[in-house]
Amino acid sequence: MKIAMIASEAAPYVKTGGLGDVLQALPNALAENPDNEIALFLPYYKKIKENAKVRADYLASFAVNLTWRQQYVGLFRCRTERKNLNVYLIDNEYYFLRDGIYGFYDDGERFAYFAKAVLACMNWLDFRPEILHCHDWQSALTPIYLDAEFRSCFPDTKTVFTIHNVEYQGKAAPEFFNDVLGLDDYWRGVCSFDGCVNFMKAAITHTNLVTTVSENYAQELRYPYFAHGLSGILAARGGNLRGITNGIDTGVYDPAKDKALAKPFTADSFADKQANKRALQRELCLDETDAPILSMVTRLASHKGIDILCFILHRLLERNLQLVIVGTGETKYEHALMAAAANYPGKFSMNLRFDSALASRVYAGSDMYLMPSKSEPCGLSQLIAMHYGAVPVVNATGGLKDTVPPFNPVTGEGRGYTFQSYNGDDFLGAIDRALGDYYHNRAAWDRLAQKDMREDFSWKLPAEKYMEMYRSILNG
Ligand code: GLC
Repeated sequence: MKIAMIASEAAPYVKTGGLGDVLQALPNALAENPDNEIALFLPYYKKIKENAKVRADYLASFAVNLTWRQQYVGLFRCRTERKNLNVYLIDNEYYFLRDGIYGFYDDGERFAYFAKAVLACMNWLDFRPEILHCHDWQSALTPIYLDAEFRSCFPDTKTVFTIHNVEYQGKAAPEFFNDVLGLDDYWRGVCSFDGCVNFMKAAITHTNLVTTVSENYAQELRYPYFAHGLSGILAARGGNLRGITNGIDTGVYDPAKDKALAKPFTADSFADKQANKRALQRELCLDETDAPILSMVTRLASHKGIDILCFILHRLLERNLQLVIVGTGETKYEHALMAAAANYPGKFSMNLRFDSALASRVYAGSDMYLMPSKSEPCGLSQLIAMHYGAVPVVNATGGLKDTVPPFNPVTGEGRGYTFQSYNGDDFLGAIDRALGDYYHNRAAWDRLAQKDMREDFSWKLPAEKYMEMYRSILNG
């Protein structure tokens, strides 16, 4: 099957969050099947241009119009290790040669351009995919331009849109429709919602199938609490809104081979996790005790549950445990957490940076991983944590509910500790249950951590589910 993937980020080229991880792993997993031919399209950002490791060959240049604007498109191809996976970079220095990926005043125009340029590139390449798979708002207008202007070039192409996070929808003032999009008036209704141009809403209503990154989030999205205004639009898609739970790239995240670790280990050599714990304590100036290490690798944002963490922080740190946090984010949280860390030397290590090698050592060295997100479409770090033998404590929402069933000490079923309503006391209650088992039922605790390490979180199964779904659209 020929599949085009359109997104604004994909590791190792460019990544600001989980979207980048998924767009690295999913195309690779799909390309495992030699009968598939995958083309991934990304903007050619400054960060990629400056990366000497990326070797991109120039293929062609032409122009696309956004109403009165005639914009240059340069098409480049990167070499990958797989013959049936090509990564194409779309070059336009005016839009993409900037310091940073998102957050510019003209992001709407930048990604409307990108969404349209992709189609011109596929046409030039003579790549006529059976499935055009777009991710998040930045590529949400590709299916719209496909039907509005490129249908005759791609008569049989079906479209899929995946929501990684409904919070970011790509909204613009109503004038944007006439000034930038340059589409016939028919499309105004498709592209508008609540008095604005809304990229994501356009894709949700217009693609053959809408998916999101866990089964539970696919249900939650039908409710106003989770859908940031789009619950009605999403619920109206009925069975054409589906959830496929993400995996992790087990080639990238592998505690047996991870070079960042003091001592690589597996579930069978679980005792070696202890060496990683000691090394982490030394690295972060924590007391070298046997108290459990609780960790978080996260953006410091309210929706990640940092507000309820701050609410319980003092009570938490009065317990016999150590806390390690890695991440940056909202200033108020950075200040609050740094101040608390200064009050608990040897016990709480706050690391205001993102460093993937440190993140690996934290997953490997800690006993528990905290993820109290208010909502979480899928979440990848709880999967990485489990894969590295850190037992998760999570709010049972979104993909966290699907991937961390509660541990039952009697039957040994489940993977971690959960709480059901978003508040600090219930979060602390779940941590206390975990601490109780850690201290008083250590053998069962270790078995749980080993069992979590053995779970299959790879992309094999999710990639099969995507294939099945693509086939169902083509046959339907
Ligand atoms: C977004 C979501 C996260 C998900 C990731 C990859 O970052 O917030 O929950 O795991 O996308 O799909």
